[in-house]
Amino acid sequence: MSQPVPDRYAVVGNPIAHSKSPLIHAAFAAQTGQALRYDRLLAPLDGFVATVTAFFEHGGKGINVTVPFKLEAHVLADALTPRARLAGAVNTMWRDAAGWHGDNTDGIGLVRDIEHNLGVPLKDRRILLLGAGGAARGALLPLIEAQPAALGIVNRTGSKAEALAQGYRDMAGTPACAVWGGGYDELAAEGAPFDAPFDVIINATAGSLQSEVPPLASDCIAPGALAYDMMYDAEPTVFMRFAATHGARTADGLGMLVEQAAEAFAIWRGVRPDTAPVLADLRRGLQ
Ligand SMILES: NC(=O)c1ccc[n+]([C@@H]2O[C@H](COP(=O)([O-])OP(=O)(O)OC[C@H]3O[C@@H](n4cnc5c(N)ncnc54)[C@H](OP(=O)(O)O)[C@@H]3O)[C@@H](O)[C@H]2O)c1
Repeated sequence: MSQPVPDRYAVVGNPIAHSKSPLIHAAFAAQTGQALRYDRLLAPLDGFVATVTAFFEHGGKGINVTVPFKLEAHVLADALTPRARLAGAVNTMWRDAAGWHGDNTDGIGLVRDIEHNLGVPLKDRRILLLGAGGAARGALLPLIEAQPAALGIVNRTGSKAEALAQGYRDMAGTPACAVWGGGYDELAAEGAPFDAPFDVIINATAGSLQSEVPPLASDCIAPGALAYDMMYDAEPTVFMRFAATHGARTADGLGMLVEQAAEAFAIWRGVRPDTAPVLADLRRGLQ
């Protein structure tokens, strides 16, 4: 008897060889008994739309989108989820009779990792988000939906953090919690909108990639706070080491990577995989 042809999925980016997504989705498929194939797809820098259009025309069912194409995917989508609309970036797509659907699962992956895997509830906590690039934008709505007491966004270019907070206020009408954005110096200034310290500090900057710690005053870190770096590596990042010296518990973004993939898998396949064994395997592979 012939085997069923597996449904095809892919992660599209440039570069793409480093992506762990095929490993993660293969593990999810094996665990849940889903017949699917998931590949890496290298798109030319000027060829994102042509590459994904060809993939779907040849029977592809869904794609993940990574650097540098998340903004182009946002433009391509005919229908966006609210979290993808606010993020201005898409990392998960699928197509049906209504056209291209775009979602952003990075932020919900972050929230799941913090709340479920690390056991830190965000409700009524004071959160500080560092950075205002794609990763920070993707995190914004899921973080607010977790009902923190307050959410501050700080960025090297303060106007970008301010615009991000304003974008949320414009979308929501009445904010579900106090949301403020600005520069690191504004946070430290007298009369700042939020008093330090914060219970959860999330580094969504690219600083750790350059071994640079964002210019965060150490009194922003509450004793026992969670300091979370979206970057991950075999060793703790510079931000994690800085926060640990000021009494924080630390975590990196490997769990976020696995959880954002699980959310995409659940959207495409209607089945939610158990992320714990997949995360443990990936962690072992990093060592
Ligand atoms: N774990 C995961 O699943 C996951 C998913 C997505 C992203 N990430 C990670 O998240 C990080 C950010 O990615 P992204 O896509 O948001 O990048 P991005 O769009 O390029 O944004 C970079 C952000 O970092 C800030 N920045 C860069 N260098 C800095 C430094 N030395 N000090 C302070 N701030 C600095 C930038 O500030 P300006 O606006 O002032 O330039 C900007 O806000 C990366 O480390 C990425 O690997 C992880």
